[in-house]
Amino acid sequence: MTVHQIPNTIKTDSFWMPFTANRQFKKAPRLFSSAKGMYYTAVDGRQVIDGSAGLWCVNAGHGRPQIAAAVERQLSTLDFAPSFNMGHPLAFDFAERLAEIAPKGMDRIFFTNSGSESVDTALKIALAYHRANGQATRTRLIGRERGYHGVGFGGLSVGGMVANRRQFATHLPGVDHIRHTHDLARNAFAKDQPDHGAELADDVERMVALHGADTIAAVIVEPVPGSTAVLPPPKGYLQRLRELCTKHGILLIMDEVITGFGRLGTPFAANFFGVTPDMMTTAKGITNGSVPCGAVFAKREIYDGLMVGPDNAMELFHGYTYSAHPVACAAGLATLDIYKDEGLLTRGAQFAEYFRDGLHSLKGLPNVIDIRNLGLMGAIEVKPRDGAVGARGYDLMVDCFNNGLYLRMSGDSLAVSPPLIVEKKHIDDMVSILGDAIKRVA
Ligand SMILES: Cc1ncc(COP(=O)(O)O)c(C=O)c1O
Repeated sequence: MTVHQIPNTIKTDSFWMPFTANRQFKKAPRLFSSAKGMYYTAVDGRQVIDGSAGLWCVNAGHGRPQIAAAVERQLSTLDFAPSFNMGHPLAFDFAERLAEIAPKGMDRIFFTNSGSESVDTALKIALAYHRANGQATRTRLIGRERGYHGVGFGGLSVGGMVANRRQFATHLPGVDHIRHTHDLARNAFAKDQPDHGAELADDVERMVALHGADTIAAVIVEPVPGSTAVLPPPKGYLQRLRELCTKHGILLIMDEVITGFGRLGTPFAANFFGVTPDMMTTAKGITNGSVPCGAVFAKREIYDGLMVGPDNAMELFHGYTYSAHPVACAAGLATLDIYKDEGLLTRGAQFAEYFRDGLHSLKGLPNVIDIRNLGLMGAIEVKPRDGAVGARGYDLMVDCFNNGLYLRMSGDSLAVSPPLIVEKKHIDDMVSILGDAIKRVA
């Protein structure tokens, strides 16, 4: 059902919007009222292509009846059941199904409700694992500059987006960061993975030299940072990171909240790069964005390493009221069915080249300083206006929206990550609207 409302007549005072310039937004709200397939419908009735899969989460496209039916059925059958010392069958089914598509050996699944919770959960598991294995001095957590790992204090601390950190002076102690890999001087307009920068993974050695390997619990990185507008890793970088973590007994956590569930044309980025981490954090596409849910995938050794002490002792003092919520599990199982039936976890591979060529055709337009892509993730970066970082990016985002394309902005970059049901004609339309917007806004 499409509900049309006249923009600007709704009351906007009470909703304190997340990650939004509230006062700016409320002067001219951009509102969606319904969605189907590749399109949102704005409140004024306009069709808007969803170039961002919602927020990198609606991988199977909008309005999937199978998910709606599963949710409805679940709500009227078992609306809630606790997972603390009780359980319900769907939680176990869902975990088994996730384990089936996971990289080999990463088949122990801890449920959360979001990416932020998955990150904090994985960091805590890393600490608990080392302690259980007689390495209680391994408490240091290493993130990366420009990383985004959600908004919990754990994720915030290992994250490296400066604005996100600056407002909250208190971070976890004992956290350090390796350098980011964004290098416009050497890699601007690189297609797929850039050639330069694998050596930046050697920062792990610097961390070890500085702090001592026996103090470091884990390194966490996004395989392809998304929130800082799509920064594909240099060739060989993740492989090197894996080698160094293994060498020093440090757990490698890959934050696959965006890259999980088909974004790169493989089920997970771990498959794409042929790099198996010790844990993966996921959320978003796990339920096609329909019901909040997240999951940490852990290697079996990590789970087994914590299954110590007497059988009646709790092994991990951690969990959420809504871990493995029955409705989320139902939505997730229906989502996995769709992914399987429609081959969506690998479909992106067929379109990656077309997507890449479309985006790179915008090279040469005014103020475009970089174009990046990998799988069905891409970004266009424009030159910041003098003294007004982000202003040109914002104008571009608004122009695109007014002309029928929703894209996520990050500073002066616009990220493109369509649902995985995308067809060539949608890519053509996205590129054309974006190109016109760049010319207008320039
Ligand atoms: C890599 C990564 N980690 C964690 C998060 C946080 O997820 P959530 O917003 O569901 O807490 C995000 C969100 O975009 C993300 O991209």
